[in-house]
Amino acid sequence: MAERWTPGSWRAKPIQQVPDYPDAGALAAVERQLASFPPLVFAGEARRLKRELAKVAQGEAFLLQGGDCAESFAEHSADNIRDFFRVFLQMAVVLTYAGASPVVKIGRIAGQFAKPRSAPMEKVGDVELPSYRGDIVNDIEFTPESRIPDPRRQLEAYRQSAATLNLLRAFANGGYASLGNAHQWMLGFVKDSPQSGKYQEVADRITEALDFMRAIGIDPETHPEMRTTDFFTSHEALLLGYEQALTRVDSTSGDWYSTSGHMIWIGDRTRQADHAHLEYCRGVKNPLGLKCGPSLKPDDMLRLIDMLNPENEPGRLTLIARFGADKVDAHLPALVRAVQREGRAVVWSCDPMHGNTVKAGSGYKTRPFDMILKEVRDFFAVHAAEGTYPGGVHLEMTGKDVTECTGGARAITDADLKDRYHTYCDPRLNAEQAIEMAFLVADLLKTARAGRVRPVTRAAE
Ligand code: PEP
Ligand code: CO
Repeated sequence: MAERWTPGSWRAKPIQQVPDYPDAGALAAVERQLASFPPLVFAGEARRLKRELAKVAQGEAFLLQGGDCAESFAEHSADNIRDFFRVFLQMAVVLTYAGASPVVKIGRIAGQFAKPRSAPMEKVGDVELPSYRGDIVNDIEFTPESRIPDPRRQLEAYRQSAATLNLLRAFANGGYASLGNAHQWMLGFVKDSPQSGKYQEVADRITEALDFMRAIGIDPETHPEMRTTDFFTSHEALLLGYEQALTRVDSTSGDWYSTSGHMIWIGDRTRQADHAHLEYCRGVKNPLGLKCGPSLKPDDMLRLIDMLNPENEPGRLTLIARFGADKVDAHLPALVRAVQREGRAVVWSCDPMHGNTVKAGSGYKTRPFDMILKEVRDFFAVHAAEGTYPGGVHLEMTGKDVTECTGGARAITDADLKDRYHTYCDPRLNAEQAIEMAFLVADLLKTARAGRVRPVTRAAE
């Protein structure tokens, strides 16, 4: 029997990645204040997302999840949100059209502020300071004052999440996301990109289809599925005091929900079965993600699945594989087989970013586009070989013209990285690279859905 769960039962468990707040009283006061604020999302929305993800688990839809590695307070402008949203819509259209599949859209946005770090301290020259843990905890500037965790930042993160969500809801429902706008979603700089012709073609065909529908008497304007879109939010549930404060009982079902975002996930560094992050997440009814890195063994994974999805509800749990381009074959097949053998309903998604971070000669952290693509390809190939469904991708990306990942059709080089390296944490695909990736994934998806990928033979394990 599982022990009794409460929104605060995680506090009795061991925990990783906790900021060192100097003033426990100030932290508790902020958490009390947050607990008195309205929820950011509603239980009914989280349930709708779960139903959508259940379709992905059953192979009937594809999950596109993406956004910043870390949102920042400094870059909170309407332009930034719009640019992200329209690139995301373009990617979704490409996947829907070229991949011939419904797409479930989840942003890493409106709450993606807390970062796990591999080292608690950061050293620059002779100076050593606490690591930056995301804008919800401390400031990225490398000074002793900036790096002190400040609980008031949680209030700022809440406000920013609320404002971002407000704009996203307006974009998603207010006409901007209408398929009739597929041409207008093209950004200025993406217009001259190697992908623009391909995207233009997709948009042309959608326009033709809409014209045809109008001609036969169906007005797209009166059909909500063509005028609006379902867009959901997600973030890593890392800062559990913040998450607890936004955990609320849903009055219709009596169940507990995390109301800080529609989906929350557990990071690769905080997925210990007997620790706090598992304890918190098992008790809320939202769709959950679990990052699966190279150190996760099949038996441990099954134990985590049992804890997080004891009723084997499709759509509840998304396993986000993030091994590294050269490690997918060594790790993923055994996990996929274990899930199959035990008959567990999960969404398999591929995060091709976090296992492929390298330090460029210039000193910047980067991710080569080709390695990202290789991980995605290998992920699809493993699922083809195992007869399972490659359900989605999880990308770090932005709508901006940054230079953070090398490669892509415009061939960003190591020497280019310094030009527009703006990320607060990990390197993101820029708008062009993100759309290029969407086309490549769409091809893989189309083949997977047609069941045309022939199983690859692999050496016995
Ligand atoms: C992330 O998604 O930003 C992240 C830190 O991932 P992981 O837990 O897989 O390392
Ligand atoms: Co990241």
